[in-house]
Amino acid sequence: MQTILSGIKPSGTPHLGNYLGMLKPSLELMKRPQTRCFYFMADIHALNTIQNRELLRQYTYEAAAAWIALGLDPHQAILYRESDIPEISELNSLLAHAVPKSLMNQAHAYKAITQKNQEAGNEDLDDGVNMGLFNYPILMSADILAFDTDFVPVGKDQVQHLEITRDIARRFNVRHGECLKLPQVIVKEEVAVIPGLDGRKMSKSYENIIALFQPEKEMLKCINRIVTDTSPPEAPKDPDSSSLFAIYQGFAAKDQIEEMRAHYAKGIGWGQMKKELFEVIRSALGDAYKIYQELMSHPEELDRIFNEGAKKARAIARPIVDRARNAVGF
Ligand code: TYM
Repeated sequence: MQTILSGIKPSGTPHLGNYLGMLKPSLELMKRPQTRCFYFMADIHALNTIQNRELLRQYTYEAAAAWIALGLDPHQAILYRESDIPEISELNSLLAHAVPKSLMNQAHAYKAITQKNQEAGNEDLDDGVNMGLFNYPILMSADILAFDTDFVPVGKDQVQHLEITRDIARRFNVRHGECLKLPQVIVKEEVAVIPGLDGRKMSKSYENIIALFQPEKEMLKCINRIVTDTSPPEAPKDPDSSSLFAIYQGFAAKDQIEEMRAHYAKGIGWGQMKKELFEVIRSALGDAYKIYQELMSHPEELDRIFNEGAKKARAIARPIVDRARNAVGF
């Protein structure tokens, strides 16, 4: 039996990058025999940026509704909110002493803020950094290590966090004896970094996302806003430097992708390509939007699923966290 675990931070509406980079691969893994999947809403992580309680709840429901609408079966995978599992917070505090501050200084999200402050001439390089953000990789390690996780499917932006998790587990094991299992990362190369409207990585914090679930008209409008160059329709184009193609290949079948490569070589108008992209997304998502809306209008049902999931997840995490307590001498 192999344990698969992944999470999404409910700090915004789920977008196409989340879908292609993590949600879709997580659902494929769920279908493999001999796997136990833990899929969760990283709502404690979201507190770093979302301090409005209604919004936090809304985004948490959206993330869960998206996962279920796309095919997550709560009987097959354990779905829960991070905040419902006190064992995670307990392990978080047990891990902290094994983490040198210098390791946290290296984390991408923290470094990005200090660098921004430096470039802006701000003497306080830590301006805007809260301890939730600084400790983010430790909490993420606890999310993963509390379940003896074997594999973590994520997009490329999370790879460093997985390296840090392994590093922390190793350090803990050196101090206290073999206790924590080292997880492995799974990244699907072709969808590792899905670009957003402006060509940078699609990200809630860059405000360049295409929401996964929105009315078709809005989705098409959004796709039409993806930035392209000014080359004319008949000019041959490079698929590998095209945002539209990068998203397209996450949704299309193999033969469609090959055909599209040929169109690029011959020349395809950006307007045409945007239509093709819209169609391929629409057909891949099928009825999921309807199911999503239905779930969003029944948050009590989502709460029920969260509560069931938390019960199951806690029962599994408890002995693992007890093992760590015992290892340190409690
Ligand atoms: P989050 O909420 O930013 O993103 C959820 C997942 O979506 C992937 N992703 C992308 N993949 C490809 N292209 C993109 N443009 C793109 N944008 C997002 C992310 O890589 C991620 O897999 N720290 C995590 C949540 C978390 C977690 C964990 C994940 C907390 N604890 C433990 C795994 C295991 C995060 O903020 O993901």
